[in-house]
Amino acid sequence: MIDLRSDTLTRPTEAMRRAMARAEVGDDVYGEDPTVLALEERVAELFGHEAALFMPTGSMANVLAVRALVQPGQEVICEASAHITRAELGAHAAYSGITMRTWFHPRGQVDLAMLRQMHAPDLGPFFVRTAAISVECTHNFAGGAVLPIEDLRDLRELATAAGSSVHMDGARIWNAHVATGTPLAEYGAVADVMAVCLSKGLGAPVGSLTLGSADVIAEARVWRKRMGGGMRQVGILAAAGLHALDHHLERLADDHAHARLLAEACGVDPEGVDTNIVVVPRTDAADFVARAAEAGVRVSMVGPTTVRLVTHLDVSREDAEKAAAALAAL
Ligand SMILES: Cc1ncc(COP(=O)(O)O)c(C=O)c1O
Repeated sequence: MIDLRSDTLTRPTEAMRRAMARAEVGDDVYGEDPTVLALEERVAELFGHEAALFMPTGSMANVLAVRALVQPGQEVICEASAHITRAELGAHAAYSGITMRTWFHPRGQVDLAMLRQMHAPDLGPFFVRTAAISVECTHNFAGGAVLPIEDLRDLRELATAAGSSVHMDGARIWNAHVATGTPLAEYGAVADVMAVCLSKGLGAPVGSLTLGSADVIAEARVWRKRMGGGMRQVGILAAAGLHALDHHLERLADDHAHARLLAEACGVDPEGVDTNIVVVPRTDAADFVARAAEAGVRVSMVGPTTVRLVTHLDVSREDAEKAAAALAAL
């Protein structure tokens, strides 16, 4: 079976497992795990942020990032199919008392004109105030679309002028970086707080980080523990992340090339595939998924008429070619 359901399905390589086995560890709730500290320092520096905090999941990294910017009863605005609004099961409302409004863009992009209309300043005790704007780059449900850095800079300017903060869900920011050559620090510069994942394209089994100022991260550390996310000798997992940064970053370009190959096989314009996710419109989505599985390719249905294919570390060029031939035949 060639599994194209998600880039979260990768299994640690032998070399990654060896790095994990060798990791120096300590109790991270005491702040004494040297491998976690090294990872946090390295990732904060990559994005030009003051500090970072290791998290078990991208969802928790987002929840703690957004709550650092938005008080209970205030709102964050985001694109309508953003992970924070569609796939975190209401966590921002349930745990942080935050409301959301959304704009829609078929490719998950920033819509400055719409944002100017939607943004709600503090009007006293009458209306919900917009405290943050959230963007997702790359955008998962919009097919791994990259948000151009120029648009993100314009958004930063708009937010600052409006007195709002910017949150970036950078679960797959690595893919945007490799696809565009935009330095990670330039993405970091547009966001007050970010979440990044090691467990997607980079191929680590677990691990995400929230990045921000030293104050934001100190407060996030309290909330992580409060929510049950204080982990102990977790350097074993941080070592996987460090290994992934050393060995699995540049190779994301292969995943992007494989995604374009698959797009072509499915009749999707490869020019519209920015990174490692291909969205295929199919009126027979459920049937297509079933027939693909019979042909040895697992793909997922992400809407009644939408099939999604995701390339990753465990899909070789040969696998991608085989899958492309099987899907083209369908
Ligand atoms: C864009 C985006 N953000 C956040 C997450 C959450 O990550 P996790 O599954 O580790 O909670 C995902 C998961 O796929 C994602 O695609």
